[in-house]
Amino acid sequence: MPHLISIANQNSQFLCQEQRSLLSGLEGQKIKALQIGCRGGGCGVCKIRILDGNYQSKKMSIKHVSADELAAGVALSCRIFPLSDMTVETLD
Ligand code: FES
Repeated sequence: MPHLISIANQNSQFLCQEQRSLLSGLEGQKIKALQIGCRGGGCGVCKIRILDGNYQSKKMSIKHVSADELAAGVALSCRIFPLSDMTVETLD
C-alpha cells in the first residue's frame, strides 16, 4: 500500500510504496527535491529531516548521520522506508 509523503518545505507530495525507500519513491516522480547519489547510504547527499510518520530505517553510517543529527530526525532518504504517511523536509 502506498503512503503519501509530504515534503513540507517544498510544498510537494508523492506516493511511496513500503518496499521502496523515500529516495526511490521520489525518483519515480517529476519532483527534483533531493540530490540522488549512491542510493545505498554511502554518500550522504540525500539527507532529509523526518517531521512526522512511521518508518523503517536501514543502517546509516555515522560518517553521514551523526548521533546528534539522528536524534534531531535527520536521516538518509535512501535508507528510510515508509510505514505510514510521512512529512519530511529537505536540508540545504
Ligand atoms: S543517495 Fe547516497 S546516501 Fe542516499
